[in-house]
Amino acid sequence: MRLDVVTIFPEYLEPLNVSLVGKARARGQLDVHVRDLRQWTYDRHNTVDDTPYGGGPGMVMKTEPWGDALDDALADGYEGGAHGPALVVPTPSGRPFTQELAVELSERPWLIFTPARYEGIDRRVMDEYATRMPVYEVSIGDYVLAGGEAAVLVITEAVARLLPGVLGNAASHQDDSFAPGAMANLLEGPVYTKPPEWRGRDIPDVLLSGHHGKIARWRRDEALRRTVRNRPDLIERTDPAAFDKKDREM
Ligand code: ADE
Repeated sequence: MRLDVVTIFPEYLEPLNVSLVGKARARGQLDVHVRDLRQWTYDRHNTVDDTPYGGGPGMVMKTEPWGDALDDALADGYEGGAHGPALVVPTPSGRPFTQELAVELSERPWLIFTPARYEGIDRRVMDEYATRMPVYEVSIGDYVLAGGEAAVLVITEAVARLLPGVLGNAASHQDDSFAPGAMANLLEGPVYTKPPEWRGRDIPDVLLSGHHGKIARWRRDEALRRTVRNRPDLIERTDPAAFDKKDREM
């Protein structure tokens, strides 16, 4: 997968060299290009923003630097359709970033991120590129960050771990919280490892029983309990048919 990020803070994206994403890059599974938006400014002050039409507080990012930067990013390798790029615009006004959207993005060969500062990017930039590629305006949560760069790191990490061969054990994202399947809409329950006793605390007996059916049932019960406590909205959103008799006895 190819990733382009256009930003006025390229150094903010340095974590893309670390850990899972960094290793995927080193192995050639991710081809990452971080570009400094100010390279596409032509005035003495490298201006990327201006006052909003219609008045109001804050500044708006200008069309021309974004347009020129995106055209250059596209110039090497642009193809339309399913093999072409998608634009990902982090914004608190976007659609919520979910595991489902992470899966959708992970199936695209090329993502171009446009993290903005200030009050956001002039609308015409998104409208212009939407004629050539899918544009995803995405929010990572109901809070306002100072800019979209941290959101790019979040989205990239969630997407990269879904790419074939990136995670050591492919099964390890099958029972993630929010993963499709039997545990859809349930949060993952608690996990334990050795030693079996620590500071007088034991691990649940069932995990030592070797009884796979009982362990699966226990995991589901714990997931249900945690979801009821932390995310009752997820239970309410779930089709009642997804719960079996034992779920209801909990
Ligand atoms: N930029 C500022 N706040 C954001 C958010 N919550 N999600 C994505 N991008 C943002």
